[in-house]
Amino acid sequence: MKTNAVVIEDYGDSSKFKDQEIEIPDLKPKQILIKVAGSSVAPFDIAVRNGVFKNDFEIEFPAITGTDVTGKIVEIGSAVDKFEIGDLVCGMVGVKGFGAYSEYAILGQSKAAKVLENIPTEVAASLPMTAIPAYNALFDLGKLQAGEKVLIHGGTGGVGSMAIQLAKNAGAIVYTTAGNDFDKLKQLGATKVINYHEEKFEEELSNLDLVIDTVGHYTYKHSFEVLKKSGRIVSLVENPDDKLADKYQVEAMYLSGKFDNPLSKVVKLVSEGKVKINVQQTFPLNADGVRDAQDYYEDNHVFGKVVLLK
Ligand SMILES: NC(=O)c1ccc[n+]([C@@H]2O[C@H](COP(=O)([O-])OP(=O)(O)OC[C@H]3O[C@@H](n4cnc5c(N)ncnc54)[C@H](OP(=O)(O)O)[C@@H]3O)[C@@H](O)[C@H]2O)c1
Repeated sequence: MKTNAVVIEDYGDSSKFKDQEIEIPDLKPKQILIKVAGSSVAPFDIAVRNGVFKNDFEIEFPAITGTDVTGKIVEIGSAVDKFEIGDLVCGMVGVKGFGAYSEYAILGQSKAAKVLENIPTEVAASLPMTAIPAYNALFDLGKLQAGEKVLIHGGTGGVGSMAIQLAKNAGAIVYTTAGNDFDKLKQLGATKVINYHEEKFEEELSNLDLVIDTVGHYTYKHSFEVLKKSGRIVSLVENPDDKLADKYQVEAMYLSGKFDNPLSKVVKLVSEGKVKINVQQTFPLNADGVRDAQDYYEDNHVFGKVVLLK
């Protein structure tokens, strides 16, 4: 069986995307095939397109990029036991995987979760790459507890805006850094929003239990100053700085580990209205749409997500 897909035949800018028919490979035992209803733009997808990771892992061209996916299951592998044909799911396509910028995509069942009926497609399409890293960083690595104080950098981002809500929902006191949308971030649960254009967060905050860093560089280095002794810092973008960790007597971690997939927990919170995703702009899921969506993401301030819909 063949599918229409958006492919790149080489690394490069967004003009590389083109529509092409591709043969769908046979499913491995624990994989599911879904008819794609939506996807989204994640910074990771743009980095893969640009070849940022070409020395870390190889992708085969023509390659179908795109990580977030939602749609109905049309076929299941022989050992799939969590899902049935017809289930509506969302999930994260493996980096060397098939989809998500495609008519059909292949997902490992461990990377997927059922989508509850009241969740709009554009929200389901935005969930995996925001919910999974935010949850893993806060709870699996960061060990956040109710009543603790957490600083989440990049509050307007996909991961940051999700992390603010998950942390608040877990009973934490949440601080965030952002350049825009201050009132909206307070509505999501931030007690204090620090404007990174005008203020130094390290002069505003101290004695925190946890920092989640989605920004890196200066932001990462100065985050050590706001932690209490034995505090924790989890970065999504920087390897642990052991010297700073020793100096400030804190634990520094990088989010790369494999944890149980928390997606169904977050799907439930979204369905109950406890967690929201702001979809700033949608584009059609074809080569022109993917190009325009990634260009829009790179050229504009985005609060939340840019989504691709079939
Ligand atoms: N390690 C992992 O497993 C993992 C998983 C997911 C994501 N990531 C990485 O985590 C990062 C964030 O992902 P994302 O999807 O949330 O990206 P995103 O949606 O682009 O969000 C990044 C946010 O950071 C804000 N920002 C930029 N500079 C800042 C500063 N100095 N202080 C505070 N906020 C600042 C941006 O706001 P402006 O519009 O104002 O610039 C933007 O809202 C990306 O680099 C991504 O590749 C890593």
